[in-house]
Amino acid sequence: MKKLFVVPLSVAFAVLSLSAAQAGNVENGKKLFESPTFGGGTSGKTCASCHTDGAKLGADLFEREKHMIMGKEVASVADTVNVCIEMALKGKAIKTDSDEMKDVLAYMQALVKEEKE
Ligand code: HEC
Repeated sequence: MKKLFVVPLSVAFAVLSLSAAQAGNVENGKKLFESPTFGGGTSGKTCASCHTDGAKLGADLFEREKHMIMGKEVASVADTVNVCIEMALKGKAIKTDSDEMKDVLAYMQALVKEEKE
């Protein structure tokens, strides 16, 4: 009888570790969000300096068709992040398809989701 549980358990474990890998992205995103050197930042500020707990991040941030920042229209949320990297962190825009960008977007998605709940 015991053996019957072994297989489902290992499947459950595999599924759990998969979602843990995704959560890892969010975690790394949080680290970057709180790092003054993200994007080569030189101002000593971090994203979290201004956006603690998702402050100034609209709850609908990832659902908009148009993305505006500082009165300028940009193509995507990633480009918005790059504007803040350049203007606020005084760093350099990073590649919009880089792992770092994906991690930060994943973390911000988690932040705005919390805001909604
Ligand atoms: C000095 C303060 C400051 C810092 C540091 C900062 N931001 Fe911002 N951010 C702002 C302000 C102010 C706005 C709103 C600008 C506007 O009105 O268009 C904004 C807007 C945004 C938006 C768009 C939000 C929305 O709902 O439209 C995103 C995304 C964003 N920031 C991400 C980041 C990320 C990621 C970092 C770190 C790389 C960062 N910001 C660092 C001040 C800051």
